[in-house]
This record gives sequence, C-alpha cells and structure tokens, in this order.
Amino acid sequence: MLASGLSYVHRFVPARGSGTPLLLLHGTGGNENDLLPLGEMLAPGAPLLSPRGDVLEHGMPRFFRRHAEGVFDEADVARAAEKLADFVEAARVGYGLEAPVAVGFSNGANIAAATLFARPGVFRGAVLLRAMQPFATPPEAALAGTPVLIVSGAADPIVPAANAAGLAAALTAAGAEVRHEVIPASHGLTERDVTLAKDWLATLLS
Ligand code: MLT
Repeated sequence: MLASGLSYVHRFVPARGSGTPLLLLHGTGGNENDLLPLGEMLAPGAPLLSPRGDVLEHGMPRFFRRHAEGVFDEADVARAAEKLADFVEAARVGYGLEAPVAVGFSNGANIAAATLFARPGVFRGAVLLRAMQPFATPPEAALAGTPVLIVSGAADPIVPAANAAGLAAALTAAGAEVRHEVIPASHGLTERDVTLAKDWLATLLS
C-alpha cells in the first residue's frame, strides 16, 4: 500500500492480524522495496513500514549525507533523525500503528541508531545490522528499557570493530538493553543475521 502526505516515499504492508510494526530501513543504494522480504521473514504477518532514503549520493538513496565512507555529516545525521522520527509519528497516526521496532541495515542501521538517541521512545526497539556510531558524541538520551540488538560482522571492511563496540557502549550508557553479537561475516547480511534477528524479535514480541 502507498500513501501520500507522509514525508518519505514509502511502502506500507498492513498486518495480517494485529502486531507490532517493523520499520525497515535500507542500506545505501537501496529502496523501499528491498527489505520487505526480510521483514516478512523476521516477523511474519506484522505490519511493515518501509521508507526510501531521500538523500542521493551519485543517484543512490541514503538517509543522510556523508563526507566519505564511514565519515558522516553529523548535522545532516541530526536533521535526518528528526525527519525520520516525525515520519514514524505521522505514519502511526495515519495507519493506526503501535510504536515500531526499527530494523536497519548499514546506512539504515545508522539512521535508526541516530533516531534512538535523537527521539527516545519513537521506537519500541531496534535491530541494527552492521551499524556504526552515528555521532562521535551522542546526544544525552534516556533509553531505559529500550531493547536493541546489534549484529556486527567480524570481517566487515566498512565498520571497524571498535566503532560497533562504541555504539553498543553508548546505547548501554543511555540505558538501553543492548545485545551485541559479532558473527563471522563481512558487511553483507547472512543467514545468521536473519536467525538472530528473528529469534530476538520473537522473544520481544511474544
Ligand atoms: C553509512 O554511510 O551509513 C555507512 O558508511 C554505511 C553505508 O555504506 O551505507
């Protein structure tokens, strides 16, 4: 289903039954269709809300600007986090949704992490696949009780291990209930990501 009046081009797949929605956030060069099959695998029948990043880098959609790979324009990260939070709040009203669990990959995981810090409470929880620290110094945030799963690749050439560990530490310091898994993988998603995320979500949403 498509709807106008919301700030991102997006896809919305209504629930079969009721359920906590997943907010699906694609990586650089992706679009609103990419993660719909993953969402259906992770939480079959859940409502799926999937925006397309509106920043173009050589024609590739992303959610915020960067100066180079892994070097972020933090003012634009902050802008995009506010925009995504506003989008989620508008979509909740428009589609009659509970607070979603964000499921982000790469650039999508990074904007999800930024939004956790920028607008605590907008997500019920978050699955961050190959995430990095979106802010060198994250804003103060009260994330007590917010569950977050981070899955990092031990051989990821884009996300340094210390950076992912720093994100886990920053979220934990803000009060989030963080589980950080480092798996034998590169930057791309693997079956292990799907299994970890599906099991974690099943426990959260049961
Ligand atoms: C980012 O720009 O968010 C990260 O470098 C990951 C990516 O390549 O999208």
